[in-house]
Amino acid sequence: MGYSTLPIAKFHGSLLLIGLILFQYFSPLVYADESKTIERLIELTEPRGRAAQEKVARINAGKKAYMQFCVHCHGLQGRGNGKASAYLHPFPRDLSLGIFKFRSTPSNALPINEDLYRTIKQGIPGTAMPAWGEVLAEETLISLVEYIKYFSSRFQIETPDFIMPIGLEPPYEKRSIEKGRIVYKELRCGRCHGEKGERSGRLDNKLTDAWGNPSVVYDLKQPGLYKAGYSSEEIFHTLVTGLDGTPMSAYDYVSAGDLWHLVHFLQSQQKNDKISPLRMSQKIVSNSISKKIGVSPEDTAWKGIESVSVKLRALKSASGHPSVIKVQSLHNFEQIAFRLQWEDETPEMAKPGANFYMDAVALQFSSKSRFDLIYYGMGERQKPVNIWHWKADSFQIAEGQSQVRNKFAVNPFSEKSVEEMNASGFGTLTVQSLEDQQLVGRGRWKNGKWTVVFLRN
Ligand code: HEC
Ligand code: HEC
Repeated sequence: MGYSTLPIAKFHGSLLLIGLILFQYFSPLVYADESKTIERLIELTEPRGRAAQEKVARINAGKKAYMQFCVHCHGLQGRGNGKASAYLHPFPRDLSLGIFKFRSTPSNALPINEDLYRTIKQGIPGTAMPAWGEVLAEETLISLVEYIKYFSSRFQIETPDFIMPIGLEPPYEKRSIEKGRIVYKELRCGRCHGEKGERSGRLDNKLTDAWGNPSVVYDLKQPGLYKAGYSSEEIFHTLVTGLDGTPMSAYDYVSAGDLWHLVHFLQSQQKNDKISPLRMSQKIVSNSISKKIGVSPEDTAWKGIESVSVKLRALKSASGHPSVIKVQSLHNFEQIAFRLQWEDETPEMAKPGANFYMDAVALQFSSKSRFDLIYYGMGERQKPVNIWHWKADSFQIAEGQSQVRNKFAVNPFSEKSVEEMNASGFGTLTVQSLEDQQLVGRGRWKNGKWTVVFLRN
């Protein structure tokens, strides 16, 4: 990792200075009062000149990226209360408390830069926290690490502790797994995780985390849901450092030997799922054909057209949501169409009196040419996005399917099941006027699968 080459630790003096400069963004009044002190600080600060300037430049770059990519979830002052946060669970981290789940340092210590860098780059599986490594440059990731540390004064007062050593892993074998099973019992991990690590959902005893929210355990049999990674070393690290702020405390008093056995026991319980890393960026190619494109989900034109599997990210971690959506696209230079398919055992449709979300899917297009310049959730001010939205009504169930109990063909919100909308930031979503609606579309649920087609000139 390129990170460790940065001479960050040398700049203690300038760290303090920049902390105060940054403060002006958040509290201009205080800044005015303190400006004399800051001038004095500048005098006293080492290093001066270029090094300090570079540092300021990096923090500014971090702020810019934060305002574009993170503020919607983590909030203006890093308190985890951005506009999107209400839709998410777990909530985005309140960065102002300086409590971090994923560290290589002991419990209650600050994370090192590399820990934060890793989280931002790789994302947090099973939550809404994206993996930014694919869309942001290394430089930007590093500047983000520097910037978010200013949300908590802890970083100005303390320095991170040492890294917890992990030692040598003994062979993964039956004896070790059996020992791990005993340790798991003795340490009563099952209280929270179930006898074999299978429990998921909120903790029965209503435990909350340090941020005052209900704490959730995830199914430890699914390696893809291990937030801090599922390799032997990573699980060992989780056990020995704990996930600060959550009921998952550090087992640093347990011998390394026993911890390795525990790791092996957990691994023996894991399902052998193929795990693909979280992705932020995938290419979908629109294939050109020479005939007219139909709106029917079963149109034969779709046969043999390359399909891209897009992994979905749960906004609220709950089991049972579809995890992959398959996307195909066709165009004939006049019309463009997208076909989306995903598995769903229980279709949720608009019915009179229903107060649940019905099944829906949307595509979002940037009005600028390069999408990665725009925040992916609802766009930004002056950077509008065009959204194609489809929602299910009971017309769309294939004939003869058992799920069709109430054949009310109702969609209470609009006559069409597809709509074109525009947005430039959270809270700005508007439906285009009827005469501007150019979109047609149709969905069909059959044999546990939705197929939805969007078509537009
Ligand atoms: C769509 C919402 C969303 C966006 C956008 C987002 N995050 Fe997060 N972030 C989360 C959530 C949710 C969590 C908490 C997950 C958990 O607690 O398991 C989180 C946690 C974190 C953590 C805490 C890691 C720890 O060890 O506790 C850091 C640091 C972080 N995000 C940084 C960022 C940065 C930097 C950006 C912008 C580049 C960003 N996030 C953008 C949702 C988001
Ligand atoms: C008091 C309840 C509690 C006990 C006891 C407990 N855990 Fe946890 N554990 C949690 C919670 C809650 C989480 C999820 C925290 C989060 O992601 O916010 C968790 C997460 C984990 C994870 C997932 C880490 C990741 O990367 O996502 C592992 C592995 C784990 N625990 C193993 C264990 C083992 C092994 C024991 C016994 C030595 C144990 N836990 C004891 C509550 C507990």
